Order: sequence, then structure tokens, then C-alpha cells
Amino acid sequence: MKNETVVVIDFGGQYNQLIARRVREANVYCEVVPYSKSIEEIKAMEPKGIIFTGGPNSVFDEKAPKPDFEVFNLGVPVLGICYGAQLMSMALGGLVHHADTREYGVTEIELDTDATLFKGLSAKNRCLMSHTDKVEGLPEGFKVVATTADCPMAAFENAEKKFFGVQFHPEVNHTPFGTEMIRNFLYDVCGLSGDWTMSDYAKNYIEFAKNKIGDKKVLCALSGGVDSSVAAVLLYKAVGKNLTCIFVDHGLLRKDEGDQVEEVFTKQFDINLIRVNCGDVFLGKLKGVTEPETKRKIIGEEFIRVFEKEAKKIGAVDYLVQGTIYPDVIESGTGDAAVIKSHHNVGGLPDYVDFKEIIEPLRNLFKDEVRQLGIELGIPENLVWRQPFPGPGLAIRCIGEITEARLDILKEADAIFREEIANAGLERDINQYFAVITDMRSVGVMGDERTYDYTVALRAVTTTDFMTGEWARIPYEVLDTVSKRIVNEVPHVNRIVYDITSKPPATIEWE
Ligand code: XMP
Repeated sequence: MKNETVVVIDFGGQYNQLIARRVREANVYCEVVPYSKSIEEIKAMEPKGIIFTGGPNSVFDEKAPKPDFEVFNLGVPVLGICYGAQLMSMALGGLVHHADTREYGVTEIELDTDATLFKGLSAKNRCLMSHTDKVEGLPEGFKVVATTADCPMAAFENAEKKFFGVQFHPEVNHTPFGTEMIRNFLYDVCGLSGDWTMSDYAKNYIEFAKNKIGDKKVLCALSGGVDSSVAAVLLYKAVGKNLTCIFVDHGLLRKDEGDQVEEVFTKQFDINLIRVNCGDVFLGKLKGVTEPETKRKIIGEEFIRVFEKEAKKIGAVDYLVQGTIYPDVIESGTGDAAVIKSHHNVGGLPDYVDFKEIIEPLRNLFKDEVRQLGIELGIPENLVWRQPFPGPGLAIRCIGEITEARLDILKEADAIFREEIANAGLERDINQYFAVITDMRSVGVMGDERTYDYTVALRAVTTTDFMTGEWARIPYEVLDTVSKRIVNEVPHVNRIVYDITSKPPATIEWE
């Protein structure tokens, strides 16, 4: 493989991983490294381009993060973004002004389209500004290549040395030309060919994990969801039988799901898999419980206890694999948000497992990248494209008390709904869809008989972030087929309703 590495030097800005994502989307390999990385280590990576990220500090702060400025003598193109641009200006002899108020928001920008960075773009454009300090005098050899009303030096370049500074954020969607600009930097300034793919990511990671782990022991909690599955297979490819996966089947999975997971992991990949069938234990703990938060807490805790018990049988391990992906990292960073639901992720961190270090191979990836990686690794499409499924499983789709009989009704109804969505070719258009068994019973008539049975609700939403969502406009004919099939094929259901509330005010799950 050709070495076409771009090094992203991280100064702590909130969009840093987005920069990496934009570079990877341009099919260029990149690594995000801390600003404190030594110049020798950076050199050893043989970067073909370097990007300085933004960051929350002022360049004048005593503790402002600064890289080794030798980085400007490597003969490698450098793109500084926001704080990174101010740092570049300061390091090379420009003037940075410390402002007291922050410029924040989307603003009009005028681009010099003769500059390599802005080649092929519209001169009148928009960008997101989010900075306090600002560059007010350019270092020698630099010229201004973009301006805004408040920021006369919104972008500047030294074309000869291939140094560029932009005070706006090209990595966010609010800067519509940002992706193109980053591509110009990568292809035209750094001369990269852009032939890197997800299969290279897999190869690199497997190589890295082999070297790091050697013949040590690795443990993984497998939920059967996309993230933990991809993480497990990636590690399996690196360490083979030194990886053990524990799959806690709490009996709250969708119809046949536990068997499918077992089949893929043991038949297709020959992974050491311990499946713990403990549906009875979970049902016992949940007996008589109807309150949603209590259900969630019980399941979360019990899951950890079961996992610990199994892990103890294996004894000490060196590494514990987590399927954390990048949005988890962002979301868990907020801290003060009100607790709407106590989310529990199967695969969450147990308290007493004897391990030395956590490894998170997907930490830098977004969901669609994880799916791409899964396909590269040979995981079947139906698993890779599985819709999100909550850790507490069907328990929070079984309103009221959870019993085996009601779970069976739910599993069957849900399977029919999913089958008909697939038959209608809507699987990829609707982001999450499932059945809910309510605790309401109502009167119906079947044949000549009176029935007094459960109402099943259908829920389907379109969303990109799962924080907000619209109820999906499923064609009536599809809903009609689903309704008829469930009532005819699933005993004890005599009424189907379709949930037409968006989020907010409703949440996606019913509990
Ligand atoms: P809500 O119901 O909060 O759900 O609108 C938003 C998304 O999160 C999923 N969800 C969970 N995922 N553990 C998870 O891993 C949980 O405890 C949990 N609860 C909800 C839900 O399915 C939807 O995709």
C-alpha cells in the first residue's frame, strides 16, 4: 500500500473527528494525534500533509497547546483551521489579536478562486465562524485569500511553502464548500491520489492490533448489534482464538436473533463464543415490574452481573473490547443533559472484570463507516444493516408486565412487521421500525366469536440522528397487509394501531 498519510494534530476542538472524517471521505488515510506528539514521531509517520485542528484556547493562554514548531520545517503542506490558523500565524511571525467577544455563526465569505484551496468554488459563499482570537497581520510570504465582513483575513496562504490558514470551520455542514476545500488541499496541494478505502482501515487496524496484543487474551461482550459485532470480528482477525466473546442472551431479543448471532460467529468465523441463555433469570427479576425506568435498571444491572460471572470463569484477561463509536463519544461528553431515559448499552463497562486495558477499535468511526467496515470484514449484510436495537431489548416494547406469553406475541408481531417492510422494499428508507405490545385489551369479533385481546402498536420513524425523528409515511397498503397478517397469524391480538407521533414530543421507544 502506498503511504499517503495525513496527520491531523489535535488541539482539542469539538469538530476534530469531523476533520478526520472529511479526509477519510476523500479516500485519504489520516490519523488524529495529540498536539504533544514529538516531531520525531510525526516524522516517522511520513505525513504527506498536516492539518492543525481548532481548539478552545486562546493562543495567548499560558497553557495554550502548542506543537513542536519544527513541523513547519518538514517540507510538508500544512492547513491550519481556526485555532490552528492563529497558531500558524503566530509561529511564523504574524500578528494575532486577542478579542474579548467571540464571533460565532454562519456568515458570508468572499473566496479568491485563484488560490489552490478554493479552485473551482463559487467566490461568494458561506462559512461557519467560531473564534475569539483573530489573525490581523500575516507572516512574511503570506497573502489573504478569503475575507468576511468581520474577518478581513478569513483565509491566507503561502503558496510556495504550501501553508494555509482558515479561520472558519471547513469540516462542518454549515460551510457548504468545506468538503471541496479539503479535497483541494489533499489532492492539489499535497498531491495525494485518494485511493485509500475501508479495507485499508481494516488491514491497518488488524496489523496494529496484532502487534499490540501479541498472544495476550482479549474479551468482548457481544450484543449482536452492529457495533459490537464489527469490533469483535476485527479483533478476531487480529488475534483469532485468543479472543473470547460472551453473548448474554437475555431472552429479550427479536425473534430468532440469538440463533442468528450464534450462527454467524461460530459457523462463519469460528470465534470462541460463549452464549449464556438466561432468559429465565431476567424474566424472574422482571416479574411484576411495570415501571419503565425500573425495568431498564434491572436489566442493566443483571446484564453486568451475568457478564461478570462468565468473565470470572475465564479468569484474568489483558484486554476488554468495547464497540464504542464516535457518536457515543460525543454524546457522553455533554454531561448536563436531563435524563429522559437511562440508556443502557449491552456491552457497557462491567465493574469487576479483571482486565488491564480497554480497546475501542471503532472509536473514530461514524455509524455508516462501521457498516462499511463490517461489509469489508465479510459480516452478512442483514447483520451489518440491522436497525438500532435498545440494550433492554423487547422489555421496553412490552408495555406493562413482561411475561413469556406476551413476549412471544410481540416477537411474532414484530417479525411480521419487519418482513412486510422488507417485502415493500422500505428497509433502508425507514430508520427504525418495530412492534409494541400494549397493556390494553379491547373487544373484537373473529368469525362469530367475541374476542377480548391485546392491541399491538406499530412504530416506524425516519431520522438521521435518533435525537429527533418523524413518523414514517408508510403506504396504507403496506400497513393494511401488516395489520391483517398480525391479527390472523398471532393469537391474542385483535387490534393494530399505528403511532403517528414524531420525536419530540414522543420518544422513539415507548418506554
Ligand atoms: P428514544 O426512545 O430515547 O430512543 O427516542 C432513541 C434511540 O435510542 C435507542 N435506545 C437505546 N439504545 N440502549 C441503547 O443502546 C438503550 O437503553 C436505549 N433506549 C433507547 C432507541 O432504540 C432509539 O434508536
